[in-house]
Amino acid sequence: MDLATARDLMHLWVQSPALRIHMECVAACMGAVAQREAPEQEERWRVAGLLHDFDYEKHPTAAEHPFVGIEHLRSRGDVDEEMLNAILGHATYSGTPRDTPMAKTLFAVDELSGFIVACCKVRPNGISDLAPKSVKKKLKVDNFAAGCDRDDIATAMAELQVDPTEHIQFCIDALRADGERLGLMPSSQ
Ligand SMILES: [Fe+2]
Ligand SMILES: [Fe+2]
Repeated sequence: MDLATARDLMHLWVQSPALRIHMECVAACMGAVAQREAPEQEERWRVAGLLHDFDYEKHPTAAEHPFVGIEHLRSRGDVDEEMLNAILGHATYSGTPRDTPMAKTLFAVDELSGFIVACCKVRPNGISDLAPKSVKKKLKVDNFAAGCDRDDIATAMAELQVDPTEHIQFCIDALRADGERLGLMPSSQ
């Protein structure tokens, strides 16, 4: 599945601007990691980011998300098993092991990018001057973005074997590069 098809499909299933942006943010981080690790895979990794929560608006329960979406993608036949497993693996309760770089990366940018977006929303300058140390400070504030699972963020970075500060910086840079479109700049908030 190419990027344009993935985005059309996601827009068909998701009306919430915030959820659309979340998937765009995850796609931006996936693309940036792919550029570094596997440049020829960049479009596939972005597609995984764009699709990972595409069924969440219609099917938000743990009984259905991401299983309903996976069924749909399987029936289409244009998404490979590695990508399906990566999407399954981002849901810790699915029991699907994250045993590929794509799966580990998706898990390591999903919750974290959501947290970074939450940090941007409470800053006058958005992402333009956000640094890892403020993200790390906010991670210790339990009632800030309480829906973001700190354990998942820590587990994911350990699985990917990245230095937390470097990984947070890398994701900030990836989001900042597309900050205007993602609504993360002061002018776009
Ligand atoms: Fe999800
Ligand atoms: Fe997500």
